[in-house]
Order: sequence, then C-alpha cells, then structure tokens
Amino acid sequence: MCGIVGYIGEAQAAPILLDGLSKLEYRGYDSAGIAVYDGTDIQVKKATGRLKVLNELTHDGVTMPGTLGIGHTRWATHGAPTDANAHPHYNSTETIAVVHNGIIENYLKVKKRLLEKGYVFQSDTDTEVIAHLLDYYYKGDPIETITKLMLRLEGSYALGIIFKDHADVLYAVRKDSPLIVGKAAEGSLIASDVPAVLKYTREVYFIQNEEIAVLSRDDISFRNVDGEPITKESTTIEWDINAAEKGGYEHFMQKEMYEQPKTVRDTLSPRLKDGRIVIEELGMTDDEIRGIRKIHIVACGSAYHTRVTAKYVFEGLARIPVEVDLASEFRYRNPILEEGALVIIISQSGETADSLAALREARSRGVKTLGIVNVVGSSIAREADKVMYTWAGPEIAVATTKAYSAQLIAQYLLALKFAQVRGTVTERECAGMIGDLKKLPEQIELLLGSKERIQRFANRYIAAKDVFFIGRGIDYAISLEGSLKLKEISYIHSEAYAAGELKHGTISLIEEGTLVAAVATQEDLYKKTISNIVEVRTRGAFVMAVTNTGNTEIEKAADYVIYIPQTNRYFTNSLAIIPLQLFSYYVSVGRGCDVDKPRNLAKSVTVE
Ligand code: AGP
Repeated sequence: MCGIVGYIGEAQAAPILLDGLSKLEYRGYDSAGIAVYDGTDIQVKKATGRLKVLNELTHDGVTMPGTLGIGHTRWATHGAPTDANAHPHYNSTETIAVVHNGIIENYLKVKKRLLEKGYVFQSDTDTEVIAHLLDYYYKGDPIETITKLMLRLEGSYALGIIFKDHADVLYAVRKDSPLIVGKAAEGSLIASDVPAVLKYTREVYFIQNEEIAVLSRDDISFRNVDGEPITKESTTIEWDINAAEKGGYEHFMQKEMYEQPKTVRDTLSPRLKDGRIVIEELGMTDDEIRGIRKIHIVACGSAYHTRVTAKYVFEGLARIPVEVDLASEFRYRNPILEEGALVIIISQSGETADSLAALREARSRGVKTLGIVNVVGSSIAREADKVMYTWAGPEIAVATTKAYSAQLIAQYLLALKFAQVRGTVTERECAGMIGDLKKLPEQIELLLGSKERIQRFANRYIAAKDVFFIGRGIDYAISLEGSLKLKEISYIHSEAYAAGELKHGTISLIEEGTLVAAVATQEDLYKKTISNIVEVRTRGAFVMAVTNTGNTEIEKAADYVIYIPQTNRYFTNSLAIIPLQLFSYYVSVGRGCDVDKPRNLAKSVTVE
C-alpha cells in the first residue's frame, strides 16, 4: 500500500522526505513524489518508477529547498501508475498539497459534484478529489477545513497536508489507514509506518481514527473530529528497522495474514452501496450480464484454488455454467469458447506468464475477458477487456494470504451481482448474503485471535512426512489451498483430495498417526465428510477437522476440531482458510524455514 512521510523543522525537508520514503519502499510502490514549501510556493516533484528516479530529479533533494514538506510512494489503486497520478496532488491554485494512503470509496460521487462546480482534474486518482475538496472548504482555517473534509469523505485515508497560507504548520489526519507522528531533535515528522522515522526518533504518537495532528516547528498538538484539542501519550519504539518493516510481526506473511480483515473490507466496502452491489469497473450492462452463457475461470496456484470455490458460487447463485482451468492447461488445449462465453483470469501479480498467455488465447478468439487482479497497471490488468481490482495492497510474502482472501471476495461480489441481475436470487436472499459478507472481516479477526492454540497444535507436526487435506464441494477448494500453503512454506509433502475420492487409491497411504485435515463447512455434506473421517481414522489417521460452530457432532469422529463462525455456505472458504494459514505458518516457523521466501519459489512466475 502507499507510504506517506512529512517533515517540519529547522533542517532541509527534501533529503529527510526522500530518506523516509526509502524506508517505506518495502511496502511496494510504482511511483513517488515530494512537495516542499520553498518560502514562497509549494514545489512538487513526482515520477513513476523507483525512488532513485525522484532522487535524480531532485538531485537528492538539493534543488528543493525548504523546511516543510510531504512525500509519498504510490501503490496504484485508482488510476494507472503515471506521473500525473503520482502524489502529492495540488488544488488548482497550488496553495494546498496533499499525500494520501487509503481508498476513498465515494470519490466518484464527490468528483462529480466538484466537476459541476468547475473544478478541473489532472489525474484519475481518488486523492486529487481530496485536494480539490480541501480547496472547496478552505476559508482560511485549516482545522475547520479538515474537519469538514472528514465529514464528507467515505473510505480509508491517512493524509499529510500543507496549506501555503499556513506554511509554519504540517497537518495530518487518518481514518482506517495507519499514521504516526515522530518528535525528533531535527523537528517533527509524520509517516505511514515506523521505519520512516526511526533514523530520527524512537518517540512516536500513534494517531487514532479521526484524529488530527498539528505539527509546528517547536510543538505537536492533536485535535478530534470536532477540531477540539486532545492530549495523547507518546510511545517509545523498541523495534529494530527489520522488525519495524514488518510492523512488529516476525514475517511479512504473518503481517499479511493479519491484514486480511482490512483487505476484505477494502475490497468489499467500495462495492456495496445502499444494499446493492456496484462494480463500476465491470462496464457490463445488465443485458450483457444476462447474455452470459458460460464462464471460464482461468488461473494458477492459489488463484486457481479461489476459482474452484467460485465455480460453486457462480453456479449456485447465478446458475451460470462455469468451467475452471489451470492457465498452463487452458493455453494449450485449444479450448472451446462458445458465443456468450466470459473468460475470467485471476492473478494477484497480473504478470503470471501462463495466466497472461491464457488471456491472450481467449482474446484471440474474440471472447470477452475480465481480469481480477491486485496490481494496478499490470499486464493482465492492461490487456483484459475489463479489470476488477482486489485492493489488497502489495503482498510481499511469496505465499499469498491477503490477496487470496481478496480474490474470494471479488468473486463472491461478481457472482452475487450476476445473480441479482439475472434474478436467480431474491432481494431478501441478496440482502442476507451482503450482511454475511460485511461480517467476514470481524470473523476473520476472531479466527486470527486463536493463533496460540493453533501454534501449539502445529508444533506437534513440524516433523510430519505426509499431510492430507480432504473436503467435499467448497471444502475441497479450501483443502486445495490449505495443502498448498503447508507444502510451499514448510516443504512437508501434502495433498488435497475430494473426500469421496480418497478411497479410490490414496487411502492406502494412510498410516498410524498420519495427519488428515478434514474440512466440513458444507452442512449438506457434513455426514458424508464425517464418514470419510471415520474411514481414515480406522486406518490410524489423526484427524484435524475445520467445521462450523455448532457442528459438535464431528467431535465424535475427529481428534482435534477448529470451529469457524457461522456464515453463508458459499463464503466459508474466507473463514476456514484462516486456521489453515496459521497452521502452515507455525509449522514452517517451527521447522526454521524461510517463511517469506520459500526455496525454489518466486512471488510472480513470469516464465512458463
Ligand atoms: C500461492 O501462495 C503461490 N504464491 C502461487 O501459487 C501463486 O498463487 C500463483 O503463482 C499465481 O500467482 P498470481 O496470482 O500472481 O497469478
């Protein structure tokens, strides 16, 4: 996700901003920029590409004199990575500059209002809307302006703001995106994350939601959403820089697992408006949606596993036939793509060679294509006819977790949207499912809280040789992902099987003590899966079951049970995968594996 920094004090701001941005590079970005008040005007320099481009552009900050500034590394969400879309953004008279981390969910609505009032936009970003809205509200009092802004904006934001008329103060405000304030000898700083300020100070203030920070050259104060003064205690940071980049977590994978509630919320909320599902970027009319005869969903690895779930969800809700394919197979099997087919390519990176080739194969046949992608401006995002982004932010760990969760959400929304348009679900059913979707972030949070119990269980299996995951229907899809997580980061052999398939051969591998993870979240299949649990237990297996709260019957069959909160049967993957991610993570840690960079693997497989 984006990174913001800011500085005010006696030293030159630009070198401090550039240094702070370099400490946020690990967050992933595609462009960067800084704004510095030079005593007369607010100068802005920004560029796509790596930070060194900006360093060269500003001669390491030397050509941007001034002691007040803000800086930004952009991870594109709205608008491709271009110089125009890079931050900071100005208002039209260049008297206000702003940097932003987050997603403004109502930016199109606000932009429309501002356009009607004659505002002219230079970019496609949601952030520029903030710059012009500040301009619209500004009557001379920055605090009053910011509090009005906060009442108008919907979504998440951490903002650094400079007002030319008040160039002795740096303002910052946040809602749902992280923001800290640092008090240093050289002056005061703001940043998205601790690493950006550690070089200057370990005394930081963690800004809470809807709090405003007011930094002058010799003082830091805080206001609430009503503009009233509040007092805050500072915290002394004990982390080293390496731990700080992971937000205090031991690994990026762990940090990203814990970002899943936010990732799900960020991918979901902007597409739920007044009880309706709104996927503006889809660009498909209702008639086009009704005209879809078949959906082909194509991907690799974990993205492939989300589609096995999606097959059940699209067919169950929208009653559209779905064919799922591994991209490496699809691209060579001369697929039959009929009139009215929609090909959906799913890819976190948007650069996976097999998935990109599959997309090109589909497009060469003149078939409509949709990309579900996490990286804005990536090849698949650019080449698909339409793209639906999963706003998971950059995922650093090779083993995907938060992007996987976001891909599931995107497909639930798409299936529900199609079902709404095609009339295969009632408004009441749809409202119920939207309600279930909205509960997922807090339910994921709850499951993440059971890490100690799972860690203790995982430690018993760090020497395991074979682990099997079994499930039926969507539970099979969950098993596929659970198995891949375990093997890719712990190097333990693991296989996932449709539970009904085990007896057709593989059950011969079950020995005394073999761990079998049985996923049983589909109520209509409980009894069948329980019979499969009994099958393997009678052959010596130790069975860990993942099931819905209340299904205590399973305790008679399984040895160890993990319960997930109740949700719609189509959405259980989003919950059941959490304990399986934690299990794999702790087994890998227990084995001393390189959790974030497992052997032989790359984050994006850009070769065949
Ligand atoms: C999952 O943990 C792996 N990193 C891998 O299977 C990955 O999902 C696959 O390579 C697809 O990547 P993509 O989503 O970037 O296309």
